[in-house]
Amino acid sequence: MQLTNLLHIQYPIIQGAMARISKPDLVAAVSNAGGLGVLTTADSTAQSLQEDLKTIRAATDKPFGVNLMLQQPNIKDLLPVLLADPVPVVFTSAGNPAPFFEDLLKVQTTVIPVIPNVEIAKKMADLGAAAVVAEGLESGGHIGTETTMSLVPQVAAAVDIPVIAAGGIATKAGVKAAFALGAAGVQVGTAFLVAEETPVAYSYKHLVIQASDNGTVVTGTGANRVRSLKTPLTDKLLATTDPTIFQQLSSGSLQRAIVGDVEHGSFMAGQIAGAVTKIRPAKKIVTELAKGVPTIADDIIGDLF
Ligand SMILES: Cc1cc2nc3c(=O)[nH]c(=O)nc-3n(C[C@H](O)[C@H](O)[C@H](O)COP(=O)(O)O)c2cc1C
Repeated sequence: MQLTNLLHIQYPIIQGAMARISKPDLVAAVSNAGGLGVLTTADSTAQSLQEDLKTIRAATDKPFGVNLMLQQPNIKDLLPVLLADPVPVVFTSAGNPAPFFEDLLKVQTTVIPVIPNVEIAKKMADLGAAAVVAEGLESGGHIGTETTMSLVPQVAAAVDIPVIAAGGIATKAGVKAAFALGAAGVQVGTAFLVAEETPVAYSYKHLVIQASDNGTVVTGTGANRVRSLKTPLTDKLLATTDPTIFQQLSSGSLQRAIVGDVEHGSFMAGQIAGAVTKIRPAKKIVTELAKGVPTIADDIIGDLF
């Protein structure tokens, strides 16, 4: 099934959840532009989630998604809100969504897990995932171990559900490439990080815009590998071998970046930051990315040759 039909959206363009950043203004702007906005719940309480859902619904009548990062300690508070007041789509990440599938499917919520490899993609398809996001290590934030270029075609060959490519996509050429690899849609984070609608200090957006192709670095190990812009904090994180110091430096560091603390913040962003050059309204970003989505005419021409 086409991703646009599955999600009832105009363009197969998902704004990836960004912890503490993809708040209702961005979500509504992306959905109103014909993509799918996805709300972060990283810092939500049950009450703030209820309020955020109300704010989004007042700003758009289009579908939107909510992200549950399953490492979060607040999942047990948030899930009841999403069961009592169901949302169109839940994107799960950073953990095993198996215990939550049945309840979410019962309230007709479409569940789309973010996955790092083929084995997990197959498990999610068996559990009833409507699609998966195959996220490569080019992405900003917490990352897996495979690249988008290698991961997407292998996942697309392994499952019968739509595959959404994520990691390193911020241009219409990137969107075209994702479709050529077998993706049915794209999930984009870094390009939306600098949208006008994000609650992020100008200094954060400016660092993204100024970044070059090799402007990011990965810190941490295992499930805690994080890609962010090279800053004084990442230098310190890479220099330490002491887990206690690493933890002290990291704790709260994304929030410090969001408020513009250049010295101590973790400015999460993907490798494609070097191609992100302007602060723009989310609508412009969606419209630009949509130019890379193959049209039916492209498919017919592709079949002819
Ligand atoms: C600042 C930032 C925060 C992120 N936070 C989350 C998150 O809370 N949950 C999640 O599933 N993905 C998160 N991501 C990943 C995005 O949803 C998306 O998959 C990724 O950014 C795509 O790669 P790109 O950055 O190359 O566009 C984050 C990405 C960034 C840049």
